[in-house]
Amino acid sequence: MKFFIDSARIEEVRQAVAMGVCDGVTTNPTLVAQTGRPHDEVIRDLLAVVPGPVSLEAVSEDADGLFEEARALSARNPEKVVVKIPMTPAGLVAVRRCVEAGIRTNVTLVFSATQALLAAKAGATYVSPFIGRLDDVSSDGMALIEEILTIYDQYDFDTEVIVASVRHPMHVLRAAMLGADVATIPFGVVLKLFEHPLTDAGIRKFLEDHRRIPQGAPGSGGGSRGLV
Ligand code: E4P
Repeated sequence: MKFFIDSARIEEVRQAVAMGVCDGVTTNPTLVAQTGRPHDEVIRDLLAVVPGPVSLEAVSEDADGLFEEARALSARNPEKVVVKIPMTPAGLVAVRRCVEAGIRTNVTLVFSATQALLAAKAGATYVSPFIGRLDDVSSDGMALIEEILTIYDQYDFDTEVIVASVRHPMHVLRAAMLGADVATIPFGVVLKLFEHPLTDAGIRKFLEDHRRIPQGAPGSGGGSRGLV
C-alpha cells in the first residue's frame, strides 16, 4: 500500500520523505489554509520535495472552470500534479476532459460506492473515499472501502483507491488488510504508527545495559579480539 501524506506543511512532508514513508502527498483547501502560506509557494515547495504524485484541489464550480484550473495546475509539473476534482456532475465532465488532455485526476469527497463507480467510469486516476467523515456520522467508512475494492476488482477498473480522511492507526491497518492502493495519512497518524510501549521499554533497557558495559581503553585490545 502506498503512503501519501495528507498535509500541505512542507516540514511534515520533508520528515516523511526522510523516513522513506512518503510516496506522494494530498492537499485540500483546508490543509493549505492551515499553513498560513500563499498557495503558490506551498505548491512550489511540495513539488520540489515530494518524490511522487501531489494532489492539488481545483475549486471552480463548473466544468469549464475546473478544467481550466486542472490545466494550469498540471502545467506546474505534469509528471507529479494530480488534480483533485469534486464528485459532482460538473466534476465528472471535467474529469473526462482531463482524461482526454492526459491530466491525472483524483475524484474527491466520495461517500458512496456508486459515486466511486461513476468516478471509475469517467476514467479518474484516483478516487478518494473519506472514511473518517463517514465514521463521524455513524456510518462504517471501512465498509465503503471494501465495497469499492470489490466493484473495481470485479470490472478491472484502473482507478486507484485512496483511503482518505484517515484519523488513526486502525484505519491504516484495515486499509492495508483490505488491499487499498493508497492511504493518505496525516503526519501525526504516521508518527503514531511507530509507537509501541515494548519498543520504548526495549530501547531504555538496551541503553541502560550498554552504559554498564566496561569500556576498554583505546588500543588495549578489548572484546573478542583480546581473547585470541
Ligand atoms: C484528502 O484527500 C482529504 O482531503 C482529507 O483526507 C480529508 O480529511 P478530513 O476529513 O480529516 O478533513
